Amino acid sequence: MGTDKDTKTINFNNINGNKPILIRRCTLEDLEGVIEINEKELPEDYPYFFYKSILDNFNESFLIAVDSNNIVVGYIMWRVEKIPAIDSLKISNKGHLVSIAVVKGFRRLGIAKALLTQSMQEIKKRIIDEYVLEVRVSNYTAINLYKKFNFSTQNIKYKYYRDGENAYYMVCKAK
Ligand code: ACO
Ligand code: ZN
Repeated sequence: MGTDKDTKTINFNNINGNKPILIRRCTLEDLEGVIEINEKELPEDYPYFFYKSILDNFNESFLIAVDSNNIVVGYIMWRVEKIPAIDSLKISNKGHLVSIAVVKGFRRLGIAKALLTQSMQEIKKRIIDEYVLEVRVSNYTAINLYKKFNFSTQNIKYKYYRDGENAYYMVCKAK
């Protein structure tokens, strides 16, 4: 599923008159730009093969925001986890938000909202029961954003991050 040929323009968001932004699927050529943003904006870095495997397996919900010069200014990536329920043979599918970031000069324009809205619609097609994510307890900005999308904290994962910070495990039902 998800070859580069599947890449399509999902929407054109003229979010700000001066900064027309295109939201589209990530391709192999865009990965370098995504990794650069991740390294700049988030302390959690992943090896190249990790991004590549998300691109290969969950391409439809791996979205990027590009500016008019086709420079990547934001990204979002998800994976689907199959979790066996403790009390039955049922498998529960969870859409797991792996990472989202927007470069500083392009924040507060609604890019994260656009990335979340479109990618949640895409990942839902995998028949998931809920959307889940971890976020640093100090990341007020991101927590605010997730609350807007009806995520609520289910529990705290203690010392989840390498530097010892706790994570909120946030969940949103996929109706
Ligand atoms: N202060 C408070 N709330 C904020 C702020 C802020 N500075 N910025 C965004 N928000 C919240 C608001 O609720 C906002 O809605 P509003 O504008 O209607 O008030 C909502 O987020 C959406 O704002 P957007 O403009 O769509 O968000 P933006 O494009 O600026 O990106 C993001 C938000 C991704 C959190 C950005 O700040 C960022 O890249 N931060 C660093 C990386 C990061 O922390 N990523 C999340 C890690 S957790 C994970 O990836 C699972
Ligand atoms: Zn996670």
